[in-house]
Amino acid sequence: MIIRPVKRILGTVRLPGDKSISHRAAIVAALAKGESRLRNYSTSADCESTLSCLRQLGVDLEHSGNEVLINGVGLDGLRAPATALDCGNSGTTMRLLAGILAGQRFDSIMTGDESLRARPMQRIVEPLRMMGASVSSQDGRAPLVISRRRPLHAIEYELLIASAQVKSCILLAGLYADGRTEVIENETTRDHTERMLRWFGVPLETGAAERYGLDARYAAVRRPAQLQARDVAIPGDISSAAYFIAAAALLPESSLEVSGVGVNPTRIQFVKQLQAFGLDVSVTDSAEESNEPVGTVQVRGLRESQIVESQNTPIMINGSLVPQLIDELPLLAVVGTQLDGGLEIREAAELRLKESDRIATTVQNLRVMGAEVAEFDDGLRVASRARLCGARIDPRGDHRIAMAFAVAALLAEGETEIDDAGCVAISFPEFFELLESVVQR
Ligand code: S3P
Repeated sequence: MIIRPVKRILGTVRLPGDKSISHRAAIVAALAKGESRLRNYSTSADCESTLSCLRQLGVDLEHSGNEVLINGVGLDGLRAPATALDCGNSGTTMRLLAGILAGQRFDSIMTGDESLRARPMQRIVEPLRMMGASVSSQDGRAPLVISRRRPLHAIEYELLIASAQVKSCILLAGLYADGRTEVIENETTRDHTERMLRWFGVPLETGAAERYGLDARYAAVRRPAQLQARDVAIPGDISSAAYFIAAAALLPESSLEVSGVGVNPTRIQFVKQLQAFGLDVSVTDSAEESNEPVGTVQVRGLRESQIVESQNTPIMINGSLVPQLIDELPLLAVVGTQLDGGLEIREAAELRLKESDRIATTVQNLRVMGAEVAEFDDGLRVASRARLCGARIDPRGDHRIAMAFAVAALLAEGETEIDDAGCVAISFPEFFELLESVVQR
């Protein structure tokens, strides 16, 4: 993909359905009894992986356009898959489904593409074994072999890594356990599983868990008698919107409206950061749909020649901000090249365990575009405002790196070429087309 700099972003966009919410809607609807219609289901390859695994597990579903009709089989209605379940590139598919498969009366094998097979799974294997499941892996990596159920028992589990996927895996396994399964997190991660389970009638408890720490929270489930089928309206994906929001906020004289987008408080930290940098971004019209907040994001670009000022020291992103920005950090690093004092991301070693090593891929690609960047084990530092130059970008098959550097390309001087740009389809197949519809040259 060749990208040339543009003058501004102008227009209104609606984003395809949120990826995280779509995975959960499909999985939870499959466990409910009866028909659920999911509207604005994500168009991502990852969410298609979830649907194809569910089909292999005997769930009858119809996917046409952006709608998915799921005939839920009930908690105990899944069937043994004939072959290994292929989760593709999708960590969410593997980690969430593993929680459910741990509670079944049949054996299953889960695998994925080369990137997914390199990602850490010990973080779910351990708590599932504590619940009595029989799960084996190769050095903590997929393929995962899950053997037929020994009855699961409830655990109280404090997350060692701030991960919504691990939290969700345990809560979903908790639907098959005797007693009350409680997960405690010290740092807030996205809460879509909790919201989706409630929407389908599971009495899930949440609250403060002060004995674990001042900000600690818990979520707890018991095995319900049944989940009630329900329709779900899936909001636009705020993580996909982030690329448009960043570009519009930084390009002078831009004006962009993103409507019908998910504005769940656990997901809008990126917008809050842009606001803290003095950029003109606002969230309005917040309403609840299917138990998720939905709203409109309005963005106005910089006034001509305005500089985004920050103190001389780089803005620091670390601690509890990291899990709330986890998918947006490569893009935030790109934004950091436009801040006077630069930007530093630390305590973010998790980034090395994503679809690519996102610290390495971000640093390498920022450097080829001319930014001065330091790399640390747990993050990176963009030294100061940089004049980006068009270059050849290698996203190493990582969708979020390709999209973050497409934004960098819009801000750069000269032409940028993104290799293997088709990888954006992992989360956002329409990305380049939608971008083209709002740029002005
Ligand atoms: C996700 C959680 C995050 C995020 C991923 C989607 C989810 O992963 O990076 O893109 O849907 O639960 P971790 O929970 O492993 O940090």
